[in-house]
Amino acid sequence: MRKVMWLLLVPALWLAGCGGGGKESASESAPTTEQTTMVADQNNRNDDQQVSEFGVGPIQEPMNIPETIDEALAKKGEELFDKKGCTACHTLDDRKVGPPLRYVADSVRPEWIMNMIMNPEEMILKDPRAKRLLEEYGVPMTNQNVSKEEARAILEYLRKAAKEKKN
Ligand code: HEC
Repeated sequence: MRKVMWLLLVPALWLAGCGGGGKESASESAPTTEQTTMVADQNNRNDDQQVSEFGVGPIQEPMNIPETIDEALAKKGEELFDKKGCTACHTLDDRKVGPPLRYVADSVRPEWIMNMIMNPEEMILKDPRAKRLLEEYGVPMTNQNVSKEEARAILEYLRKAAKEKKN
């Protein structure tokens, strides 16, 4: 009978131990992530200054974008937003697989948006905002093979969306 008690007790203690241990290792893993980030930041220190404004990707020169919306380009962008599969993960106003994009053009530079669209794999590794979003959404944005011209049109659609605001 004693043996049976022990057989029950030992796993119970072990499980209890694991519960505490699990919490501990969760808090221990935080500094580890930070350390990794720090190493990555050190390795890319030169990139980092650009990362904050433009992100990482093919667009590293400031773009000269007129204030007024190019309606034809925005319309093309809206079509591409669907055709290129963005709608699988994004809407303008609601959270889906990815974040709502209504106000993104108000929040980051146009160059950043272009780089996020064309180079998401690197953005989510190196750019602070993209990294934060990846942490929040838990899904990496996929590369949808968008050309520079197409990304520019999608940007115009997002600029228009931000200007329209919500009805
Ligand atoms: C597989 C789902 C998926 C697809 C397809 C996708 N995205 Fe994303 N997108 C995400 C997620 C998730 C994030 C947040 C970052 C992360 O977790 O990688 C994101 C982030 C973004 C951001 C940054 C938002 C912000 O607030 O900074 C933009 C802009 C964006 N996506 C645009 C697009 C466009 C344009 C397309 C189509 C060419 C597209 N995405 C296709 C999932 C997706």
